[in-house]
Amino acid sequence: MAASERVTVALRTQEDVVSLRHRVREQAVVLRFSLLDQTKIVTAASELARNAVIYGGGGEAIIETSLNNGRDGLTLTVIDHGPGIPNVEDAMRAGFSTGGGLGLGLSGTRRLVDEFELRSEVGQGTSVRIVRWK
Ligand SMILES: Nc1ncnc2c1ncn2[C@@H]1O[C@H](COP(=O)(O)OP(=O)(O)OP(=O)(O)O)[C@@H](O)[C@H]1O
Ligand SMILES: [Mg+2]
Repeated sequence: MAASERVTVALRTQEDVVSLRHRVREQAVVLRFSLLDQTKIVTAASELARNAVIYGGGGEAIIETSLNNGRDGLTLTVIDHGPGIPNVEDAMRAGFSTGGGLGLGLSGTRRLVDEFELRSEVGQGTSVRIVRWK
């Protein structure tokens, strides 16, 4: 079967982060991800969404589910139009936080997924695209 689905979730509040977690979980179930893989992609989604709300002033998440003959996976893109990240290398380092957090969101997310692509421009915003293959 070849099919794909695209769901967009607005991210403004902590409740929106919870909604995104639910939608990602749903799509991971559609893809028949293992329980462990479901938890990994849900955790990753949660961290990126939390950053978009806290640092990016809100944004949106796009969940793309593809079922394509052996190339099944979930792609998540989280976008905001906030202040951007001045030093991405610093931000990616475990323990670095400008918000009094643990500074583990981005570094942890990278380890939970198969593909991780962060683009950020100061004054323009931040976009992070992650993929977890089945
Ligand atoms: N969307 C974003 N816009 C602007 N800055 C960001 C964004 N996401 C992350 N950052 C910056 O990168 C830093 C590291 O992010 P990361 O998620 O790793 O840690 P944290 O959010 O500070 O703490 P934790 O996620 O562990 O609670 C943040 O403190 C912030 O300075
Ligand atoms: Mg974070």
